[in-house]
Amino acid sequence: KNVGQSIEHDAAQGHVTGTAPFLEDLPLPSDALTLGLVYSPVACGKITSLDLSAAKQVPGVAAIYTAADIPGHNYFGPHFRDEPVLADQQVLYVGQPVAVIAAESAHAITLARAQIILNIEAQEPILSIERAIKLERFIGPGRRIARGDTRTAIAAAPRKLAGVFHCGGQEQFYLESQAAIAYPGEQGQVIVHSSTQNPTEVQHVVAEALGVAQHQVVCLCKRMGGGFGGKETQAVLPAVLAALVAQKTGRTARLVLTKDEDMCSTGKRHEYRVEWEVGFDLQGKIEGVRANFFSNGGASADLSLAVLERSLLHFDNSYYLPHVEMVGKVCFTNFPSNTAFRGFGGPQGMIAIENIIHEIARDLNVDPYEVQLNNLYGTEDRNTTPYGQLVRKNHLPEIMSQLAATSQYRERRQAIEAQNKSDVLLLRGIAIMPMKFGISFTTKFLNQGNALVNIYTDGTIQVSTGATEMGQGVNTKIRQLVADEFGIGYDRVLLMPTSTEKNPNTSPTAASASTDLNGTAAVRACETLRGRLAELAAKKLASVELGLTESPECVIFEAGLVFDRRNPAAKLTFGQLCLQARLERIDLGARGFYATPGVDYNRETGRGNPFLYYTMGAAVAEVEIDRFTGSLRVPRVDLLMDIGRSINPAVDRGQIIGGFIQGMGWATAECLVYNERGELLSHSPTTYKIPAITDLPPVLRCDLFENNDNDENVARSKAVGEPPLMLAISVWTAVKQALSQAVETEDLRLPATGEEILRQLYRRANVA
Ligand code: MTE
Ligand code: MOS
Repeated sequence: KNVGQSIEHDAAQGHVTGTAPFLEDLPLPSDALTLGLVYSPVACGKITSLDLSAAKQVPGVAAIYTAADIPGHNYFGPHFRDEPVLADQQVLYVGQPVAVIAAESAHAITLARAQIILNIEAQEPILSIERAIKLERFIGPGRRIARGDTRTAIAAAPRKLAGVFHCGGQEQFYLESQAAIAYPGEQGQVIVHSSTQNPTEVQHVVAEALGVAQHQVVCLCKRMGGGFGGKETQAVLPAVLAALVAQKTGRTARLVLTKDEDMCSTGKRHEYRVEWEVGFDLQGKIEGVRANFFSNGGASADLSLAVLERSLLHFDNSYYLPHVEMVGKVCFTNFPSNTAFRGFGGPQGMIAIENIIHEIARDLNVDPYEVQLNNLYGTEDRNTTPYGQLVRKNHLPEIMSQLAATSQYRERRQAIEAQNKSDVLLLRGIAIMPMKFGISFTTKFLNQGNALVNIYTDGTIQVSTGATEMGQGVNTKIRQLVADEFGIGYDRVLLMPTSTEKNPNTSPTAASASTDLNGTAAVRACETLRGRLAELAAKKLASVELGLTESPECVIFEAGLVFDRRNPAAKLTFGQLCLQARLERIDLGARGFYATPGVDYNRETGRGNPFLYYTMGAAVAEVEIDRFTGSLRVPRVDLLMDIGRSINPAVDRGQIIGGFIQGMGWATAECLVYNERGELLSHSPTTYKIPAITDLPPVLRCDLFENNDNDENVARSKAVGEPPLMLAISVWTAVKQALSQAVETEDLRLPATGEEILRQLYRRANVA
């Protein structure tokens, strides 16, 4: 069996030895052009003149193109077609691409940039959510999900609280920047290699922008050096520009953004403002809760409405909210359009309720854990979500009690509170949290996957699916699933680069569902092939002397061999059987298709079953704050995740720990700083602090919850990619819990950076 084993990631060696090629490593023909972009230096304004004549004369410059040179559509977008490839008269953010320079060298691009005369008549930009709210500048329709009579429930509740909560954005910080290579083919074709989570969308937008048909565009992706949501829609722009240059010049064109360019010009996790109000009883049981979400959408819609929707769908986190009203709006601002980032709005929704839980606990002067337990989804009742989906197979109560016990949460909390009373240097805190994350795209049609499985006559197999590999290990997991279908070793199966030529009309590799969708499709293709092979094997293994009739259902594929279970002594190797199949003219290639059953959500009514199942988990985080400097350490973290039966425990643990640490960055360290002109000041690793190896909790326990009941999904597994990020909310609530022992903390913001912590601590000093 391969499934369930910790086999190595199929690029593990390549990653650590630096031999796995990324886009920039691909060999180019000697006449290839290098591309560079010209960016708007102004957050909002009208282009009054753009003079390229001097720049075009720079030696080595082959061409410079603007919006006027785009033969098809200059506008694209997954929700609305509202985002220009190149700025069209109006500029909407600092860093917006205005022109693309194609040159023989990077040096020529630098010289050409200096010769471009770009005049912009500046207008007043919108640089905050609050300003957008004041001016009522929203993108698209709002979202609303409600149940019961929230107003009455809050009014009648024994206790009430209200507040405003802010959480900041986050840069995806993939190590490979946005990049694309394009070259022309025959008959008007364009071939695009893109570092993208979404080859199909690249194909579509390239076709529309170039004014060619979809069958004239091929998009390929071998791997990404990380995507984290940032390449779900936004890999399109470099791909379109490279394709444009390839189409116009007939030469290969490559565009690779520098880290600083990438950070300044692409979208991030959405910053949120949440206005909330809650009514609860003396046990902390929530009777009614209202939340009003405002997200910072940036200058176009991108995926903002879907992200906002997922925030609303995850505001309940793991709690039964009898009366609840959630509304949300996406704010237009003059920033790069914000986009997908691991969790896709889930983190913002969940932290809003965890903040409320901690406020309730503070108000009642009880342990937040008691409030969590009093509101936790039940197994028999109190288990329907605000949108009407039943929380089936709810393991949250067991997960919470198991983790509380193994982490000794209660004992440590007591010890920490006692210690804080006497320790003048360090202030400690601890917090626990449950987490439940819905798996499926909330846009129904995206819940599909297709796969192509080719078997060769030596019994080795190539598999192609719509999934893209960004380090998360989807290829490794599909390899294991396919190998088991034929009872062979995983080394006989290879996953091929993703290409729209082999797998058409695919969904983005996103929503954590890629193994679910593409893995199931691959298994289905294998079932077809196994059926054909079993029939042939039955014929070969039948024996008149032994009285063995031809019975395909008796054929076993095991340990690289094929035999009839009634006569295990007679064996064929898998390779021998495959060769026979070709000789007897049996097709050794097959496609498989899967569409997630049952998912349906009506966004007009805010009702339905958007998710196939939920991935669940819990975390306990302990923090330590220096009372004088505000610096934060996380000495211990305990994680417990229910990911069903893990297909590859090593890969999944990597996802859990990696996701958690990335979430910790969002919650405690990563801070996007803009100036009053809308320029990003924190646009490199020197000014934008992601967690480093020294920030890893010295004690980090990560356990998988035993669970075998997810028969909805392939191999009874559960998706793992995004959910663990949200467990890091516990680090933020632990900071809040620590600070609450010294000061009032109702307006603690996220990220809880050293500065934010000091702001809280110093306020007490000012009051005193
Ligand atoms: N892990 C690595 N190493 N690199 C990534 O870019 N992206 C995350 C997650 N884990 C990412 C990652 C995001 S945002 C998603 S949606 C999932 O992987 C997508 O892959 P999956 O569906 O195979 O889990
Ligand atoms: Mo992940 S944010 O769904 O790409």
